[in-house]
Formats: sequence, C-alpha cells, structure tokens
Amino acid sequence: MPKPIVFVTRNIPKPGLDKLETVFQLRVHASDKAIERSELLAAVRDVDALLCLLTDTIDKELMDAAPRLKCVSNYAVGYNNIDVDYATSKNIAVCNTPGVLTESTADLAWALLMACARRVVEADRYLRDGLFTGWEPLLFLGNDVFGKTLGIIGMGRIGQAVARRAQGFGMKVLWHGPRPQREDLPPEYQWTDLETLCKESDFISIHAPQTSENHHLLGANELAWMKPSAILINTARGAIVEEAALINALQTKEIAAAGLDVFEREPKVPQALMDLPNVVLLPHIGSASIETRNKMALMAAENAIAVILGKNPPARLN
Ligand code: DGY
Repeated sequence: MPKPIVFVTRNIPKPGLDKLETVFQLRVHASDKAIERSELLAAVRDVDALLCLLTDTIDKELMDAAPRLKCVSNYAVGYNNIDVDYATSKNIAVCNTPGVLTESTADLAWALLMACARRVVEADRYLRDGLFTGWEPLLFLGNDVFGKTLGIIGMGRIGQAVARRAQGFGMKVLWHGPRPQREDLPPEYQWTDLETLCKESDFISIHAPQTSENHHLLGANELAWMKPSAILINTARGAIVEEAALINALQTKEIAAAGLDVFEREPKVPQALMDLPNVVLLPHIGSASIETRNKMALMAAENAIAVILGKNPPARLN
C-alpha cells in the first residue's frame, strides 16, 4: 500500500518532519519564505494531509482544490487562517498546537512589558549611537512594574501564564473575557468590564484569539480610556487592536508606550509605528524558542498522523 501524502508548507523543525515520515510520504516546500498561493493550490491536489502555517490561508478554494484532504494541521495555536466551518462541512479535521507554546509566549509578553516600562530598546540604541557620556539623574526614566496593575484581555492558557508571572512582581491582576464566572482562576484575579480594565490598568496585555467579535476590540474609545502612563502589549493577533487608532494614541501621548509582536496586516508594519520611539516592535516571535518550536512541530505531526490513522489527535478543533 502506498503511504498517504502530507504536504508541509515551509521548513519546520526536523523532529516534526522525522515524525511525519514514519507514516507519510513527505513533501516539503523547503523554504523560509511563505509559499505562493498558486504553488500551494497546485501542491495540495493529491495530498491526504496538510501541515500549514498561520501565513497560509486555508479557505474554501484551497479545500476544494484538495479532493483527498482529510487533515489540516496548523503549526500554531491560533487558527484564524483556516475556515474551520467549511472544513467541518467537508469532513476535514482541523488541528492546532495549544499548550506547548503557552510559557514561551507568556515570557515574550513579559519581555515586551519590561522593555517598554524601562525603555530598554531606546536606551540600547542611544548607547550604540555613542551618546552615553556618563550616569545622568534624568536619563531614560521609565515606569516601575512592581506593585502596579496588570490588565489581561483573554484569560486562556497564555493569559493565565502571564498572570502567574505578575505575582512575582506583586501586581494586582484584572482580566476581561467573555465568561466572568471562572472557578478555575485564583479569586484574587478580578474580572472587570473592558472600560474598567482600560481605566485602571497600568499595563494591558492581550491574549485573546482573533474572532469576528473581537476584531478592533481596542479602538480609539478604548485607548482613550487608558491612563496616559499606560503601556499596551500585544502578542496575540494584530487585528484585535485598531492599528491606526493605536498609532494616533501613541503619537499624541494618550498612552505611554506599546510592545507589539503582531500587526494588523503582517508582514506590513506601518512606517508611522516604526518612527515612534515609544514602541518596541518584534516580528511575531512569541513562540520562537528552540524547545517550543520543536514541540509545536512534533504536535502538528502527531495531529496529522492520528487523523490519518483514524485515532484521536492531541488537539482537534472540529
Ligand atoms: C500561534 O501559535 O498562534 C502563534 O501566533 C505563533 O506561534
């Protein structure tokens, strides 16, 4: 019997590819750049499984071009790139990689929070530019983190991992999400409506999925509710924040700073954001540690293998 075929849309860590090869005939778009749409459409014609990335749009057109497709295994926890309803209607399993990237993403949210609060990137640039002439009483004054209020939007796995780290900083944790009654959360974490969270937080960190309900959840009104000293961190999805409104709020000092790992139209980052000194910008690297990316590759492979063998995959969405 010929092996089923899996197509992997880009280079992923080797442990994932090795695992896939135990069951599948492996085809890889061996590149570090996103595959062209026309190439992807042609590549899926005869495949049984697809291991794809958040940069690949898996929609009706693609699924209709892949008559044998049984599994779409996303190498990401977010799956806003996939039309899950249409996949379900075609009996195609959709899987993702929850859990394994929680702590790395929380670490990166904290790296951004600390970098913004203490102006780390600005100060590094200043020193490299040869401007450091000695200790100064007023040089790069930032904001304290210890004892402040952290507002978390989206209290799933990653939101909770961010909140746990806040305990070490003696912070009060507020959170906002669609289900206020949560037995699983420590009672000291307080649910608030979005307005209260915006008004009372010194730092806001976003950890919600991108859905139609929370598209532009933070726009001009919400940013105006925030304190002038507040710092916004986004490691979730760019479209949760209205980017134009954020640029305006940063330019007019309506809020103090932002740390962004995600953008509304990736990989495009508006020049106006790049021109601002009070932002730290990263190229969507929340889960980018060696250990985590290996685990994501393995889990994505295990998902595809389980579906093809008729078993329960570690993380199936439909
Ligand atoms: C995800 O998994 O959704 C991240 O954005 C990338 O790891």
